[in-house]
Amino acid sequence: MPGVATEAPPLRRQYLVAVAVFALLLVASFVLFAHLLVEQFSRSYLEDVLLSGRAHAEELARQLGDDAPLYTVVEKRQEALSRISATLARQDVIQTAQVFDERGKLVWSTTTRTEGLIGGFPDANAELVLTAPDRVVETGTTYEIRVPLRDVGSVVVSVSKEALAPRIALLRRRLLLHTAVAGGLSLAVLAAAVAFIWHLVQRNARLAARRRIDEELAALGSLAANLAHEIRNPLNALSLNLELLEEALTEGSTDEGIVSLARAEVGRLSRLVNDFLVYARPSPPRRERCEVGELLGEVAALLRGSCEKAGVALTVTAEPLTIEADRGQIGQILVNLALNALQAMEAWPKRQLELRAARCGQQVAVEVLDSGPGIPPDKLPHVREAFFSLRKGGTGLGLAIADRIAQAHGGSLVLENREGGGLAARLLLPAAPEEAAA
Ligand SMILES: Nc1ncnc2c1ncn2[C@@H]1O[C@H](COP(=O)(O)OP(=O)(O)OP(=O)(O)O)[C@@H](O)[C@H]1O
Ligand SMILES: [Mg+2]
Repeated sequence: MPGVATEAPPLRRQYLVAVAVFALLLVASFVLFAHLLVEQFSRSYLEDVLLSGRAHAEELARQLGDDAPLYTVVEKRQEALSRISATLARQDVIQTAQVFDERGKLVWSTTTRTEGLIGGFPDANAELVLTAPDRVVETGTTYEIRVPLRDVGSVVVSVSKEALAPRIALLRRRLLLHTAVAGGLSLAVLAAAVAFIWHLVQRNARLAARRRIDEELAALGSLAANLAHEIRNPLNALSLNLELLEEALTEGSTDEGIVSLARAEVGRLSRLVNDFLVYARPSPPRRERCEVGELLGEVAALLRGSCEKAGVALTVTAEPLTIEADRGQIGQILVNLALNALQAMEAWPKRQLELRAARCGQQVAVEVLDSGPGIPPDKLPHVREAFFSLRKGGTGLGLAIADRIAQAHGGSLVLENREGGGLAARLLLPAAPEEAAA
């Protein structure tokens, strides 16, 4: 279809640009989403760790919450403090827990992690910077959670940044992996949707092009039908005048031959115009009850002369059947089919023509069977197309008209090469209602 071929490239380009923009937006939104997700989760994780650190610091503060002096309390609660130390040892993000007195002097501390985080009195002269009690202070390597110890000192739990980093990194990696999988799946869904939409777009384009061609053909057909209609009247007048002229000419005159030749040509033109009009503007069938055997008898009577002249043996076989159809139109189809058969058998040694009618389920099959050459199998699908003819001087409208009339009657025309040679043209028509019910 030329229309589609010329429109396809820009359409495809526009579509690809739209898809690329959409895919980019999707990827960008996933990147942003992943970033926000990772940030949010990292922060939440850190907050959880700090909360847990604070809980430990508060537990320590509770254990030391006695009215006695701080040093005495620490001495007295050695066992509880060791238990807390052991618990903290399992929390590998907590680096140390320390107790300072009111002057900021270190009173008690867990040892460093390498020494097993066992609580005890420190040797070192660690001192607390007293400016920021009761909050989290971030230093270069730790987060220090401070809880005041009445007014005698404070407890400080330090969370190691170094221990936290690989955990947060692992969390980030997992989140990124999950987001990437979700993004990949979304892209796959997008790709499937894109392919499907492209398929629909192309089908639409094809249908639109087909519709345009159909509209053009319909307009052309209507123009041709109008033209044929206008040609028919002057042709009829011409034929009548030629007939009068022929009568007026004296017998044996040389002009008589020319006039009769002209009349024959005008007759051929007239038939062509009539056939074309029947094809282009078919009149709706005027249905009446027809006895099929009777109809076949009438057709046979019309053909008998031609058959005798052509040396064709004509037989009629009909079951008693009734159809509701346009008698004139069906008769015309049968004559056309029979004329095709006679024309095909003109130069054929075996010449038999049979008109047959039989019941075929809910339908009546009216057949025109000949013993001619049949139709080459590769041409068989095309012989119903208008103006397709393999016969010299043929217009190619006979079967096209027969097909249209059969369909207008709710039936069909079937063409088959017969096994023993020749063609079977089968007209299938609905049986009259009372016969169909029988
Ligand atoms: N019984 C047949 N045996 C062999 N060929 C046939 C037979 N009937 C039709 N054909 C082939 O099918 C073609 C189309 O037939 P169709 O009746 O539509 O057109 P046509 O006979 O060529 O022209 P016209 O419009 O005058 O009927 C014929 O040209 C012929 O080649
Ligand atoms: Mg024909």
